[in-house]
Order: sequence, then C-alpha cells, then structure tokens
Amino acid sequence: MQIVNSAKELRQTLDRLRLSAKKIGFVPTMGFLHEGHLSLVERCKKENDVVVVSIFVNPTQFNVSSDLENYPKDLDNDCEILERSGTDYLFLPSVSEMYNIDSSGKTVTDIKISCGEVNSVFEGAFRSGHFDGVALVVTKLFNIVGECRTYFGLKDYQQVYLISKLIQELFLPIEMVKCPTVRQESGLALSSRNARLTDKELVLANEIYFAMKEGKRMIESGITETKKVIELIKNHILKTEEIKLEYVSIVKEDTLVVPELLTDKVRILIAGWLGNVRLIDNLEVNCNSELKDELFEHHLSDSSIISERKIKV
Ligand code: PAJ
Repeated sequence: MQIVNSAKELRQTLDRLRLSAKKIGFVPTMGFLHEGHLSLVERCKKENDVVVVSIFVNPTQFNVSSDLENYPKDLDNDCEILERSGTDYLFLPSVSEMYNIDSSGKTVTDIKISCGEVNSVFEGAFRSGHFDGVALVVTKLFNIVGECRTYFGLKDYQQVYLISKLIQELFLPIEMVKCPTVRQESGLALSSRNARLTDKELVLANEIYFAMKEGKRMIESGITETKKVIELIKNHILKTEEIKLEYVSIVKEDTLVVPELLTDKVRILIAGWLGNVRLIDNLEVNCNSELKDELFEHHLSDSSIISERKIKV
C-alpha cells in the first residue's frame, strides 16, 4: 500500500492508471476503522482494479469542537487493516492540503456548498452546517480521485441520500455503491464513536436497534399509521432513561419525506445521546412484506449481522 499525502500526486497517479483502463474504486473515511469500514473496502476490492481509501477527519463537518478534538484516532492500526485488505493507495492529506488555513489555524472556506433542504431535517437540523461540510469535503475528494466507483455505508442514510444528490446535480463522474450496515451480533451498528462508550453503555445502546426492530415488526403486522409506529419506537427507547433521544422518524426512502401512511419502502431513522456519545441508526422496512422469521430477514434486509471480531491486534 502506498501512502499519498499530496492531492496533486494522487490525481496524477490515478489519471495514469485510468489511461491503462484500470477501474478505480474509492472509499472515503475519517479513520479509526472498524468492520463497517472494512466491508466497504472489501467490496471495493472485489469490484475494481485499484482500491483508494482516504482518511481525513474533516474539520468543516463538525459543529461541536469537542467532538472534533475527541474524534478517535489510531493510524497505525488503520494502516495495518488497510494493508491486509489489499488497499493500493491510502490518501492521507493534512488539513492544510485540503483547506486554506488562516493565521489562527482555522480553516478558511471561501467556496462553500449549501445543501438546502437536507440541512433542515434530521441530522441536518441537529448538526448545523454538518452536511455543508460533508458535501464540501466529498466534492474535493471526488475531484482529487477523479472518475471512480465510490462506496458509502447505509449506516449514515441521510449522508448517502445527500451524496447521491450531489453526484447527480453536479454531474460528477462518480458511481455510488450503497453498502449494508454492519452490526455487532447484539444489533448495535458499528461506529468509530462506540469506542467512547462504557461497557454498560455498550449494552444499553442495543436498545436503539431493538426499538427499530419492534417498529419494523409493527409495520409488517399491518399497522399503517406512521405516527403510531413512531410513538411505539419512542416509548421503547424512553424505557432506557440513559438514552436522550434527538429524533425518531419514518421517511420515504427516496425523498426523506414523512408519509402519513406507511406504504412501499420506508426507513426508520433514530438519533440520540448515550453519555457524551451521539449515536445514529436506521432500518429499512418494506411495508408490503409480511412478517418474516429473524434469519430470513437478515438475508433480505440491508443489515449484515456479523459476529464482533476484534480487528485490533
Ligand atoms: P466515517 O464515519 O469514517 O465513515 C466512512 C464510511 O463508512 C461512510 O460511508 C459510513 O457510512 C461507513 N460506515 C460507518 N459505519 C458503518 C457500518 N457500521 N456499516 C457500514 N458502513 C459504515 O462518513 C464519514 O466518515 C464522513 O462523513 C466522510 C464521508 C468520510 C466525509 O468526511
């Protein structure tokens, strides 16, 4: 694996590879890699000739400075995981490579991207400026990498929604592959931020998944009123007083609009705090499908359930 710090060098290298008809696959990340990230890299490896992974903790998408400062890092372990997964290029830019920096060390972003409506709902409403920062850095990364197939996790559903729009509306030469959420056997979606949960909180965090599953079962049993299902999910979570809910909603997959009645494919969306860690999750529900047994469901849903192997060596 080659580590590249310079945007220009990466672009030139990948342009040369494209000239010899190599298909480029690209996985953007913020590091502290876990099996969720790894699933994207593995799929990227299968479907492309060249695998590029970026690690960049993007300052412009953090609306709370302590979250940026406390964002977990372990570059040595990340490099080991990526080496083993067959990554060809690790793009590891400094903040000053990606942004102009003023004399006080702050990023200067004269050119901004405004994501409109996405900023006012769910993650956008609770994390002011977050999606503008994501859109800006992802556009920069796509411009550096060039024409490619890129891999994003459905764990961050609104992010996937936003990046699809970004690619479509800005005519970017990028094909996006949406990858299933990887969970611990207990149900908790893997996330770099889970490292900041205590042992007790790690157990309580599963309630978010259980609540969504209960909502899913209710929809599949024929309840069509959105409000009723949202209430049920909220009530489930409220039993765990340590979880401070930010929102629970059910949206149409293709528009993020909350329907009055549940038909077609919808997503249950949840966000909340456990201690000082913010957790988000979502679950796909096909309103037209009937109740399925658990095992069958795991094959059909977008959640790959894996046993919790420790990647860290
Ligand atoms: P990060 O949180 O590091 O996530 C990188 C990618 O891994 C995202 O596409 C995310 O959805 C995916 N991912 C995280 N946890 C996952 C899980 N449990 N299962 C499957 N995929 C998972 O998302 C970002 O970084 C940043 O916003 C970024 C896009 C890199 C822009 O800075």
